[in-house]
Amino acid sequence: MNTNRPHTTVILAMSADGKISDELRSPARFSSQQDQQHLEQQVAIMDGVLFGAGTLNAYGTTIRITNPELLETRKQQGKPLQPAQIVVSGSGKINPHCRFFQQPVPHWLLTTTQGEEFWKTRTGFEKVIIADHNYNQIDWLIAFQKLQELGLNRLGILGGGKLVAALLKQNLIDEIWLTICPLILAGQNSPTPADGEGFLSAVAPRLQLLDVKTVGEEVFLHYQVS
Ligand SMILES: NC(=O)c1ccc[n+]([C@@H]2O[C@H](COP(=O)([O-])OP(=O)(O)OC[C@H]3O[C@@H](n4cnc5c(N)ncnc54)[C@H](OP(=O)(O)O)[C@@H]3O)[C@@H](O)[C@H]2O)c1
Repeated sequence: MNTNRPHTTVILAMSADGKISDELRSPARFSSQQDQQHLEQQVAIMDGVLFGAGTLNAYGTTIRITNPELLETRKQQGKPLQPAQIVVSGSGKINPHCRFFQQPVPHWLLTTTQGEEFWKTRTGFEKVIIADHNYNQIDWLIAFQKLQELGLNRLGILGGGKLVAALLKQNLIDEIWLTICPLILAGQNSPTPADGEGFLSAVAPRLQLLDVKTVGEEVFLHYQVS
């Protein structure tokens, strides 16, 4: 495990044709209960989870740990019952009336100097982390340094495709869990696990398969980014 920055694990469900949502960017509710449990188990081992403003916009809420055994384990480990829920938004423009702010979880914002302006006159986030250069772009090296200083050693990355692409580009992803679900979403505008400009195959990040298991009709793939 890299000790200079938080260890990161992407956790996503996708259709058999590699889409994480449909063309309307609807909330991805196509995976099974087993996949929801798998997601909750992963979230339960994290100090914090990061997700993009687009993902919050789609769902309006975040995943909160409710399983009593998982909560008990966190308690015994001396961890806060819920990991920090960190919304990534360069613009900072998150709907302050979103249901997320009513959920009993730590609400954090990772943003820029520009994004912080919006929240100076609003409430909702208990912590606003500014990590930028040029006023309006997130500097990921500064961001990860600040997150580590705040005691976050394990981070779950819950999507969407834009956030994952940005982190992959910076070589900041260590592991990926992908659940392949039995449906086809298609659509050229439907998001995928990593969007953005993409990589040329010669320099594309390479993955090592750590584990594969089939539960019901879904396949759970666990990769390490080499
Ligand atoms: N199947 C699944 O497991 C799963 C999981 C999560 C999400 N999803 C789906 O994915 C879709 C959302 O994904 P998405 O790719 O559209 O959006 P996203 O990655 O969730 O969020 C994009 C937004 O996050 C902020 N952001 C991301 N990277 C940034 C960076 N490097 N610097 C500054 N800001 C950054 C920006 O917010 P600002 O514009 O505010 O600056 C950007 O517009 C939804 O349809 C959702 O249902 C599926």
